[in-house]
Amino acid sequence: MNDKRIIVAIDGPAGAGKSTLAKRVAAKLGFIYINTGAMYRAVALWALRLRVATSDMHRLERLAQEADIALTLEGRVLLNGEDVTEAIGDANVAAAASEVSAVPGVRRALLSVQRGLAERNSVVMEGRDIGSVVFPQAQVKIFLDADPAERARRRARELEQRGQAADVESVAGEMSQRDLRDRTRAEAPLVQAPDAELIDTTGLSPEQVEDKILQVVRARVSNGKVAQ
Ligand code: DC
Repeated sequence: MNDKRIIVAIDGPAGAGKSTLAKRVAAKLGFIYINTGAMYRAVALWALRLRVATSDMHRLERLAQEADIALTLEGRVLLNGEDVTEAIGDANVAAAASEVSAVPGVRRALLSVQRGLAERNSVVMEGRDIGSVVFPQAQVKIFLDADPAERARRRARELEQRGQAADVESVAGEMSQRDLRDRTRAEAPLVQAPDAELIDTTGLSPEQVEDKILQVVRARVSNGKVAQ
């Protein structure tokens, strides 16, 4: 790995604050922000549109291999040239993404795209398995978590802002199902890497969490080199 290229891996369950924080930290550091959940969501959206069953592993793998997924610097997500940023935010796409992401062939296809994205740039990459599987050698690994009730409230608020009706209880139910699936799947489950810094974001503002993450970055990286 090129000495100067830094990888900040941010993992954690849904609603822990990954996207908000990964975006802020990337802007602060001047790194590229990569949302790997958006990639799984894009594959899931395509599968839903084509009515591919989540049990059809071969077709899902092929879709993941053939999907042309682009993440723009402005934070838009393109699937085969179409802007799907809004469409992939739907709750049904989130649930499908969790199912589709359990398919080993889908993960293989996206893993190589994710590694390729960081070949030339320093990145802040968020997901479930970034510190454990995609970049086990990442210099900075953060695991964000929060109280399940707070995570459900945050997710419900997000959905409401998008104009989708969301009562906290049903969001909490869907989220805990999704987390259980993400944590217990055989391939690259959601897990805190042993060398990741755990930050509990319950009751903290985005500014406070950002400060904590930047402290970890400063402690682990100095002058573009890994701190000894
Ligand atoms: O971060 P998100 O909620 O947008 O992710 C949607 C789903 O995609 C999540 O439930 C599990 C899956 N995912 C994954 O398996 N690995 C990643 N690195 C990112 C997301």
